[in-house]
Amino acid sequence: MEKPEQLSSSSSSKKESLSICLPQKLEFLDIGCGYGGLLIELSPLFPRSLMLGIEIRQKVSDYVVERIRALRIQNPGQFNNINCIRSNAMKYLPNFFRKSQLSKIFFLFPDPHFKKQKHKWQW
Ligand SMILES: C[S@@+](CC[C@H](N)C(=O)[O-])C[C@H]1O[C@@H](n2cnc3c(N)ncnc32)[C@H](O)[C@@H]1O
Repeated sequence: MEKPEQLSSSSSSKKESLSICLPQKLEFLDIGCGYGGLLIELSPLFPRSLMLGIEIRQKVSDYVVERIRALRIQNPGQFNNINCIRSNAMKYLPNFFRKSQLSKIFFLFPDPHFKKQKHKWQW
C-alpha cells in the first residue's frame, strides 16, 4: 500500500480523488478505541476536528460504526466528525497519514494482546 506522501505526480488523479474525498484532514486519532467512548465525548467538544478510532476487533469496530450512525440519526448535524475503522495500528498506521497531519494521538489503556491464544485477534 502506498503511503500518502508517496503519491507522485504520476498518480495525480489518485491524489485529486483523495482531496475530493477528504476536503478536511483527519486530526485526532484514537488507537485501540474500544467501544468509542472517547470519540463520542470529544466529538461535540471539537466539532471542527475530524477524528478516527482504529480498533483491531471487527465486532467492536462494527459496533462503534453502528453507535455513531445511531447518534447521527438521533442528533441531526452532530457526530459527523468521528468514525472508526478496523485495522491493526501496529502494522498499518504509517500508511494512513501524512507527516504532521495529526495533532493528537490517543493511546488509552492499550492492550496489544501479545499472548499466543490472542493471536487470532491480530487479524
Ligand atoms: C483495554 S481496551 C481500551 C479501549 C479504549 N481505548 C478505552 O480507553 O476505553 C484496548 C483496545 O485496544 C484494541 N487494540 C489492541 N491492539 C490493537 C492494535 N494493534 N490495533 C488497533 N486496536 C488494538 C483492543 O481490541 C481493545 O479494544
